[in-house]
Amino acid sequence: EGGDSTEEKDTLVMATNAEFPPYEYYEGQDIVGIDVDIANAIADELGMELKIEDMAFDSIIAAVTSGKADFGAAGMTVDPDREKEVNFTDTYAEATQVIIVNEDSTIAGPDDLVGKKIGVQLGTTGDMYVSDIEDATVERYNKGFEAVQALTQDKIDAVVIDGEPAKKFVESAEGTKILDEAYTQEEYAIVVAKDNEELLEQINGAIADLKESGKLDEIVAKYITS
Ligand code: ARG
Repeated sequence: EGGDSTEEKDTLVMATNAEFPPYEYYEGQDIVGIDVDIANAIADELGMELKIEDMAFDSIIAAVTSGKADFGAAGMTVDPDREKEVNFTDTYAEATQVIIVNEDSTIAGPDDLVGKKIGVQLGTTGDMYVSDIEDATVERYNKGFEAVQALTQDKIDAVVIDGEPAKKFVESAEGTKILDEAYTQEEYAIVVAKDNEELLEQINGAIADLKESGKLDEIVAKYITS
C-alpha cells in the first residue's frame, strides 16, 4: 500500500447488510442504494476505492471494532448502547420505525401490540423496542422481508421495521399495510471504530460537503420519490 508507482488507490471497506431497500439492496449482483451512493461519494472525496462487505446486520459493529471493515453504513440508527462500542458520525437521514400489519388486522397502533407476536429484523432498533412490550412474543428474522413474509402467512401479527424499507416490502407483500402512527423517530449515521478519530472526522467532513452541495438530497431523491 502506498509508495509504489502504480497509482493504486487504497481501499475503504464498508460493512453493510444489503437487505434494506432503498438504503442497501441487491440489483442483480450489485449492491446499490442511498448508503452505497453516500459511501462512494465519501470514498471519492478521500481518494479511495470503496469495497462493500455484505453481512448479517448484527455483525456490522463487530466487523468495525475488529478492523475487518473501516466503517459501517446500513441505515444504522444512532443509539446510546451502540455508542459504547463505536463512534457515530454526524447524521445523514431522519427515519421512523413503523408497524406493518395485514389489511384486516385489528391492530391500529403501538398500544395494540401488547400480547402480540411481533416480527423484527434481528439486532435492529425495532428488535430493541419490541422486546420491551408487555407479554409480546418477538420473532427475530435475519432479513426484514422474511418478517413481512411471515406476516402474510399469518405466522405473526405485526412487523416493526424502518419506514422506508417498510414501504418497499409492503409493495411486494399483497394484503399488508403500514399503520399511520409511527412507532418512533430516529436518525441514521455511519459507524467508525472508537480509535479511528481520523476517519470519523474525514467522513463528517464529507457528509457536511454532501449536505451543503445538495448532493445528499440528490442521492435521496434518486431512491425515494415522495
Ligand atoms: N435502523 C435500524 C437499526 O439501526 C435498522 C437498520 C437495518 N439495516 C440494514 N441494513 N438491514 O437498528
